[in-house]
Amino acid sequence: METVLSGIRPTGNLHLGNYFGAVKNFLKMQHNYNCYFFIADWHSLTTHPTPENLHDNVRTVLSEYLAVGLDPEICTLYVQSDVPEISELYLLLNMNAYLGELERTTTFKEKARSQPENVNAALLTYPTLMCADIIIHKANKVPVGKDQEQNLEMARKFARRFNRMYKKEVFPLPAPFNFGADLVKVPGLDGTGKMGKSEGNGIYLSDDPKVIRKKVMRAVTDAGPTEENQTPPEVIENLFTLLNIVSSPDTEQYFRDAYAKCTIRYGDMKKQLAEDIIAFTTPIREKINDIYNNSDYLSEVTRMGAEKARLSAGKTLKEVRQLIGFKSF
Ligand code: TRP
Repeated sequence: METVLSGIRPTGNLHLGNYFGAVKNFLKMQHNYNCYFFIADWHSLTTHPTPENLHDNVRTVLSEYLAVGLDPEICTLYVQSDVPEISELYLLLNMNAYLGELERTTTFKEKARSQPENVNAALLTYPTLMCADIIIHKANKVPVGKDQEQNLEMARKFARRFNRMYKKEVFPLPAPFNFGADLVKVPGLDGTGKMGKSEGNGIYLSDDPKVIRKKVMRAVTDAGPTEENQTPPEVIENLFTLLNIVSSPDTEQYFRDAYAKCTIRYGDMKKQLAEDIIAFTTPIREKINDIYNNSDYLSEVTRMGAEKARLSAGKTLKEVRQLIGFKSF
């Protein structure tokens, strides 16, 4: 069975776009692949050097992924900093990672520009740490968004370099996992484009009903249809798409028909949409809160995750040490 691995940054909360996008696919993948999912808390230190809320961010992200259905009995779910083997492989990979290629990485150049006061060495070697994350479990596939494609390319390069140097195919070259048609694009409420954190147009699984109503009622619309059966503009089609995602098929059809007949009242449609989103997110939000407050459960999950991850990582590291030439006396 192929191994799939993904790192999750411990920043922010899951919104509906994440849920119906990558997260849905993670939930499916855990049944079809040998999956490793981890919270990349070391990586977060490269941009947040003094994170007062480091632990809380990790706890939040873990609670959310567990609440939506990542099953720690099926996949290996762990916190990066619980697996010291990764840091050793990172150190070893850095011996063969060159300044020039690291400096040319787009994510490094962007970060160096956005935080000129803190262009630290770990920021520069972010791709080697990411490579260590991936190859320590000999992962075959990594689901990554556009912004991480180059980092994955670097991981392949470092893995290939290692195999060549030590004349052994130790590491499979990690390929991007392509969701293809399975990736549902959830639109934002601001008229155009998709829901995203940086766009600031997200509805979060952790939002309470009041917040959801407020966000939905403020969604951008237009002056309304002027002729029967006209094609709705993007701002309106986006609301239909959201209904399609969270409401019953009749509800979507009802408002599509009303639009076609020019009898639609956007206020009613938004109210319905808000209530349907609330009905969808409420059980998840309650689950997030339960898990977040259950330290015993979280401690058990992370202990189990670290144990499984360290077993796999330890095996790889042993092989790596031998190949490099470390020997015990
Ligand atoms: N860099 C990734 C991001 O910003 C997170 C990450 C860290 C990751 N290590 C990884 C993703 C390994 C995939 C594989 O989203």
